[in-house]
Amino acid sequence: MRLICSIVLSLVCSFVFSQSNFFNPGKQWKDTNGVHINAHGGGMLFVDGAYYWYGEYKTSGRGGNTSLKGISCYSSKDLYNWKNEGIVLKVEQDHNSEITKGCVMERPKVVFNKKTGKYIMWFHLELKGQGYDAARAAVAISDTPNGPFKFKKSYRPNKGVWPINFDDKFKSASSDESALKSWTPEWREAIKNGMFIRRDFDKGQMSRDMTVYVDDNDKAYLIHASEDNLTLHISELIDDYLDFTEKWTRVAPADHNEAPAVFKKGGVYYMITSGCTGWDPNEARSFKSKSIWGPWESLGNPCIGKDASLTFHSQSTYILSVEGKKDQFIFMADRWKPDNPIDGSYIWLPITITDEKPILKWFDKWSLLDFKEN
Ligand code: DGJ
Repeated sequence: MRLICSIVLSLVCSFVFSQSNFFNPGKQWKDTNGVHINAHGGGMLFVDGAYYWYGEYKTSGRGGNTSLKGISCYSSKDLYNWKNEGIVLKVEQDHNSEITKGCVMERPKVVFNKKTGKYIMWFHLELKGQGYDAARAAVAISDTPNGPFKFKKSYRPNKGVWPINFDDKFKSASSDESALKSWTPEWREAIKNGMFIRRDFDKGQMSRDMTVYVDDNDKAYLIHASEDNLTLHISELIDDYLDFTEKWTRVAPADHNEAPAVFKKGGVYYMITSGCTGWDPNEARSFKSKSIWGPWESLGNPCIGKDASLTFHSQSTYILSVEGKKDQFIFMADRWKPDNPIDGSYIWLPITITDEKPILKWFDKWSLLDFKEN
């Protein structure tokens, strides 16, 4: 009897505590409790020797993309083995709350503010029952990386402010634009010339897929899909990271980019994005710039090999700079499962940079030890 007990115990322990030393992109990724990690559209923060992975907590079934719980968090010392830290920003039961249960909370990104000592979470918020129309940026704050985060507010950035380098002649419409047929060359030209910026000028610019990038000088930026997802905006945050300075610019007007993820190497900023096809994968894009304010040069699809035209069946969410390893970056992406969102898996791949161009290659299995010098 004692022998059977000890065999069962050791089997349970080896199941529960089995350590992983590899990334297996696209496979089920179990946390230290043996449960598939539930942190989609995620972002990463390194604090005192540990990584914190924040993401959308999804549930089962077709409606599993609406937020029934909130934003989840996991912690790890090695990037392979993750402990569930629970829901760090909870949806609220109050029907009048902007983050009431049933809203949509996507792509949370947490950054640390050195001036205030606070952890600041930005995310994309859609109000309950309004589809994707609200298109708001939302912010929450915490004293510790593993929460609890307190929701502060949500709104559309840059209300009543023009982007930098925006020609005066485009501050008012030159003709009746409402008659333009969508997707025609004239319509695209009108978008490039700020048709949707003018449309949303008084209520604030749309903010859907987003990331936050903190630069070496501690300046932070929200990089967000705006103008009906046609144009990316880069909006500078104020010193406490809780609001916008009103300095902002546009990237790739009318080119339809989503899912921005940014990193910097050797003074050059790189951005990887996707096209816009809902939950379906499409071909990733990449850009580089010498300044966060642009001009951003298009570098095309960073993926090579089989399924490169579908980003290996995934969509970017974040680029992680590996701590203590100079210029080693991990591309983090989601393989969405819209019919059962909780099953969505994670595609993490090393980024190689060749001639100032990021390259992504598929690996079934890899580890940090495989990293080549960048
Ligand atoms: C693609 C976006 O990247 C996701 O975050 C999500 O908003 C879906 N579209 C919704 O269709």
